[in-house]
This record gives sequence, structure tokens and C-alpha cells, in this order.
Amino acid sequence: MTVIYHEDDGDLQVLADKVIGIIGYGSLGRPMALNLQDSGLRLQVAVNSQETHAVALADGLPPLPVEQVAKNADLLLLLLPDEVMPAVYLERISPHLTRAHTLIFASGYNVAFGYIEPPPFVDVGLVAPRTFGAAVRERYLNGQGFYSFIAAGQDASGRIWPTLLALAKALGSLRAGAVEVTMQQEVELDLFMQQAILPAVHHILTAAAGLLFKRGYPPEAAMLDLYVSGELNDYLQRATEEGLLHALRLSSLTGQFGIFSRLERFSETRLERLMELTLEEIRSQHFAREWAREYADGYPRLRKLLQHQERLDLWELEQQTIELLRGI
Ligand SMILES: NC(=O)c1ccc[n+]([C@@H]2O[C@H](COP(=O)([O-])OP(=O)(O)OC[C@H]3O[C@@H](n4cnc5c(N)ncnc54)[C@H](OP(=O)(O)O)[C@@H]3O)[C@@H](O)[C@H]2O)c1
Repeated sequence: MTVIYHEDDGDLQVLADKVIGIIGYGSLGRPMALNLQDSGLRLQVAVNSQETHAVALADGLPPLPVEQVAKNADLLLLLLPDEVMPAVYLERISPHLTRAHTLIFASGYNVAFGYIEPPPFVDVGLVAPRTFGAAVRERYLNGQGFYSFIAAGQDASGRIWPTLLALAKALGSLRAGAVEVTMQQEVELDLFMQQAILPAVHHILTAAAGLLFKRGYPPEAAMLDLYVSGELNDYLQRATEEGLLHALRLSSLTGQFGIFSRLERFSETRLERLMELTLEEIRSQHFAREWAREYADGYPRLRKLLQHQERLDLWELEQQTIELLRGI
């Protein structure tokens, strides 16, 4: 049975006399740090560049070197890019670890795939938001909270759960809910969503736009109807609240007949095989090895792939549609 933790499961007192070290102040590091600061916890942060140094300083968190934070903090939140993290951990963090430390990750990537092997005397845990960093902050501020996966990787002290739940509460996640998984499950689910679902959705939308342009529909009207209007968001929002079937049944009867009579046509066995292959690449660590090579080579393929995407004509039409609608 899946365990889901809520607000009453976390006790902030557990962290009252602890120093929380934030290593990395980027898309997720900054929102998490600001939430923890607003929850009244004591923080120290480590950054990389001068620009981020200035941002942290302006937030009231004067940065310290990574080594210093590693020595001073009781909990260390490792919020570096996953591909960068192993070297920083090995050279600048691991030499300072003692049995008083708890290592916290926001992705199971490095521990589950064996790129980081924490010593047996430290506690290891995971609080991984199921949303973007910006939403982690917004939903803390508006009181909504955000869902996260939570996992205990290593419980050397026998106190990892109270620590994790207090942290999840201070971050604002328990207001929505934290779902217990293993670190392996977290990263496999995360990568599957990124590598199977998002590319399929991206392909469906771009292929549909291409077809509609070719058939002479005004590009702005086509883009509006495909996703710019927000109808698709509204549908997904309803699905998160009430379920997929309920959301589909909000359509008119014409809509429902169209949806359910054409559903079979799109249940492509090839698509299912592609999903299986994608999941297998993730679980066998084929993808993790490919990404480690890509990072070691300086991201040449990622750069090419991004260039190719950026050159598509579609984006100009998309931006025109967005500007037109906003009256810019
Ligand atoms: N972004 C999200 O929405 C999100 C959601 C869930 C989980 N996560 C997880 O959160 C973790 C952090 O991801 P992120 O997206 O926040 O990364 P990010 O935006 O790329 O930020 C990384 C931070 O690490 C710093 N950094 C980079 N290289 C460094 C180095 N060599 N030494 C010291 N600091 C260095 C950067 O410093 P500078 O800014 O100074 O360059 C930046 O502050 C990852 O494990 C990721 O899987 C992220």
C-alpha cells in the first residue's frame, strides 16, 4: 500500500537546532532555500558563479564555499545539475562528511545509478518535487503546497524519517502530499515521464500543427486551438482533480462521440513498444551512461538537437499567436 504523508506527519522542531546546507542555488535550489528560510530554518548556501552569488546575497543568504557549507551543515541538500554532482560531491563534499550528516537529494539519479555512493555512516534521503522549481516557490507562497516523492536511501541514525518529514513540511510539500517511493523508483518514473511522455506530446502537437498549416488553416487559429488557448491545460487540470474519464465527459455529446469512436485508431502498438524500449533504456542505465558520455564530451549532441529544434518555423508562428492574443 502506497504511503502518503501530510502536514500532521512532519514536526518542524526536529530541524529547529539544525543548519541546512544548500549546495546549488539554481532552478530548484533557490525556491527550496527561500521556502526553508520562510519556514524559519537556519541556512547556509553554496553557489558557483558571481551572478548567482549576487542573487543569494540579495536574498539574505551570503554564500560560502562548498567545503565550508559541507563542514557546517547538518543536512546537506545537493541541488546541483545531476551530471555535475558526482565530481563536486567526491572532491568537495565527501571528505567532510561525518556521522552527524544527512544527505538530501531532489532526484534519485546519482544514488540509484551508483554515481554517488554515500558512506554507510551518513543518513541519505530524497524529497523530489513533482513540479518545476518556480511552482515550488509559488505554491509555498499561496499555501497550496506541491506533491513530492519522498524516500529514505540510508537510515544510519535511525532518525531519517522524522528528518525527512520535517524537511518536506518546511519545504511546503506536506500541504499537498509526499508519496513514499524508493530512490530507484523516483528516478525511473521521472526519466520515463521526460523521455516517453513529453516527446510523444511534443510530437503530437507539432505534427498536428504541421498538418493543419499544410491544409491551409490560418496558423494562429490552428495554434490557438491546439494548445495556446489553454483548453488542453483546462482539460488536464480537470483530469488531475476528477480523473481522465470525467474530464473527457465534460465535452459535448458530439465531442464525446468523436473522442470515444476514434480512441482505438490511436492505440498504436508501436507507441507502446517505444515506451517499453524507453523504460528499458532507463532501467538498464543505458540512458545514464549515454548522458555521462555526453556531459564528458561537453554536450555536443544536446547542442545540435537544440539548434535543430530552434530552427523550426513553427516557433515563430507560435510566438506570433501568443503576442496576437496578448495584444502585444
Ligand atoms: N529544476 C527543477 O524544476 C527540478 C525539479 C525536481 C528535481 N530537480 C533536481 O534538482 C537538482 C538541481 O537541479 P536544477 O534544475 O535546480 O539545476 P540548475 O538550475 O542547473 O542549478 C544548478 C546549480 O548548481 C550550481 N552549480 C553548477 N555547477 C556547479 C559546480 N561545478 N560547483 C558548484 N555549483 C555548481 C549552479 O550555480 P551557478 O548558478 O552559480 O552557475 C546552480 O546554482 C537536480 O538533482 C534535479 O534533478 C530539479
